[in-house]
Amino acid sequence: MDKLTLPPVIAIDGPSASGKGTVAQRVAQALGFHYLDSGALYRLVALKVLQDGHNLDDETQLADVARNLNVVFQDSAILLGGCDVTDDIRTEQCGILASQLAAYPGVRAALTDRQRAFRQQPGLVADGRDMGSVIFPDASLKVFLTASAEIRAQRRYKQLMEKGINANIADLLQDIKNRDDRDRNRSIAPLQQLHDAQLLDTSSLTISQAENTVLSWYDEIHAKN
Ligand code: CDP
Repeated sequence: MDKLTLPPVIAIDGPSASGKGTVAQRVAQALGFHYLDSGALYRLVALKVLQDGHNLDDETQLADVARNLNVVFQDSAILLGGCDVTDDIRTEQCGILASQLAAYPGVRAALTDRQRAFRQQPGLVADGRDMGSVIFPDASLKVFLTASAEIRAQRRYKQLMEKGINANIADLLQDIKNRDDRDRNRSIAPLQQLHDAQLLDTSSLTISQAENTVLSWYDEIHAKN
């Protein structure tokens, strides 16, 4: 595809449980854009590894699992090998393992093309850790969406309770801090605020306020081009 005709991308990166998924989905809906939840791909690799019992030290084998994932995103459902795993990938166990597997360059490389394939007309909103840095470095708008670790632990707690998954706030806070450390300090595609990304701290914002901020930033860019 010619670079000039590539569909626009809004890249929303940020730490665990910052609310970027919810905001990204709402922005995509408001603009009629496609949506990529890149974290779901890492969680799917984790689930498959748990199901099949792969060796967690064998990067080549783990990269093969990532490359050969048989996954279908169907409306709001996610099918792995034909089975609905929409809720199964949301457990803390999957999230923690996803973050460990995501530190392997081979696993990340195996998922790159799959993520770029989501870039379709009329545009894409993609959320994750490296959307603006690695997967879509030419994104029209890059947002670094964050919130304090305490607020994120409360949000994750509420999200899990709504899904009927048991959780404990203190454990969640510790998990979030561990995951932040791992995501920020890994050598490949670390979580970082890029110099060309807009910072959006949602600690004291509602979801609608966060959504409207991203939409207004995108409107400004659109008006200039
Ligand atoms: O739900 P949460 O925000 O904790 O994480 P997620 O977006 O579902 O992603 C799960 C894990 O995959 C994260 O902890 C990251 O380590 C990893 N990930 C990544 O490395 N790169 C991405 N683009 C997306 C997720």
